[in-house]
Amino acid sequence: MPASSPASSVSSSSRQSAPHVAIVGATGAVGEEFLRVLKQRNFPIGKLTLLASARSAGKTLKFGDDEITCEELTEDSFKGVDLALFSAGGSISKKLGPAAVDAGAVVVDNSSAFRMTQGVPLVVPEVNPGAIAEANIGLGSDNVAGIIANPNCSTIIMLVAINPLHQAVPVKRMIVSTYQAASGAGAAAMRELEQQTREALEGEVTTKDIFPFQYAFNLFSHNSPMQPNGYNQEELKMVHETHKILGQVEDADKMAVSATCIRVPVMRAHAESINLTFDGTMTEDQARDLIAAAPGVSLIDDRDNNRFPTPLDAQHQDDCYVGRIRRDLSQPEGVGLDLFVCGDQVRKGAALNAVQIAELLVK
Ligand SMILES: NC(=O)c1ccc[n+]([C@@H]2O[C@H](COP(=O)([O-])OP(=O)(O)OC[C@H]3O[C@@H](n4cnc5c(N)ncnc54)[C@H](OP(=O)(O)O)[C@@H]3O)[C@@H](O)[C@H]2O)c1
Repeated sequence: MPASSPASSVSSSSRQSAPHVAIVGATGAVGEEFLRVLKQRNFPIGKLTLLASARSAGKTLKFGDDEITCEELTEDSFKGVDLALFSAGGSISKKLGPAAVDAGAVVVDNSSAFRMTQGVPLVVPEVNPGAIAEANIGLGSDNVAGIIANPNCSTIIMLVAINPLHQAVPVKRMIVSTYQAASGAGAAAMRELEQQTREALEGEVTTKDIFPFQYAFNLFSHNSPMQPNGYNQEELKMVHETHKILGQVEDADKMAVSATCIRVPVMRAHAESINLTFDGTMTEDQARDLIAAAPGVSLIDDRDNNRFPTPLDAQHQDDCYVGRIRRDLSQPEGVGLDLFVCGDQVRKGAALNAVQIAELLVK
């Protein structure tokens, strides 16, 4: 289809057996990344439908060389859809996720709406791919509709990094501090950081539409709702989702987790400082070897040149980058390690992880 001929959906007659895919929230930060990831990974698509709010109906988005016109999301949007990739916020997922399943679709949901719902798999493909098979959800000739939840972006990045170590020697306790990028709060937050940076440099009063604080040249506690125990919702997601993904919800000796989540004026890719206490011995070299050999992670750990992961290394990359692997001096030798991780949360923390789940469903 030539780029000059917009269509409300794109379909390929040579791929009629491939799934009809819908992206809900296609105009957002995650939605646009879905388009890039699906194309780059050559995900089999029989037909692609792009859905967003009434504001975006008629807008065209690029999918490779094609331009596809966005449609307004309604309850009737899912007729004939096999795979619905949701990224339009929790209330939309709660309202229309079940409607998509009733229409026969497999839903992979990026919001927090169903993550902790019993029976809904919460999946990081590198960590717990088996959760999908257990739920008996599938695409293709044995299509079985249902909802699969994509975990919180900071949780995905953290677990991809620590899982190779945890599989070798169980982690007893994990203390994590995040440095979270603007893109984690969506396209409007990215625009606000850009605008505020310009305004601050020109000595103007900064515009605060998305966050209550100045974001440019500043940092602040994560904007998710504060809970009575003093943690914000993002921090508690990292605790509870970790236990569900690791299959420890019912365990008396589940991993002890505490998180502090901070927004920093970085446009894209989250960073995390992670302190681990092992139930056994884990040396720095062992940890480096395990990370170097694991899928989804790469090492940047060059002490001589003070070269460690940065958000700019991670942006637009599939892998999460791990470095600053060092013994925790506050603990006996071999018991504790510190590490620093950077991962693109729009990509691995959202769109890529969801597409990897869909790839498992197709298999
Ligand atoms: N950003 C991340 O790094 C990240 C990571 C993990 C998970 N998530 C989750 O993914 C979801 C989307 O995040 P985002 O960052 O992409 O947000 P975003 O940039 O603000 O995009 C939101 C999308 O939802 C659509 N939308 C909003 N209201 C709608 C409505 N009433 N009906 C239909 N569509 C509607 C928007 O369409 P319009 O353009 O028409 O308004 C837009 O396409 C959220 O649940 C978020 O928590 C985000």
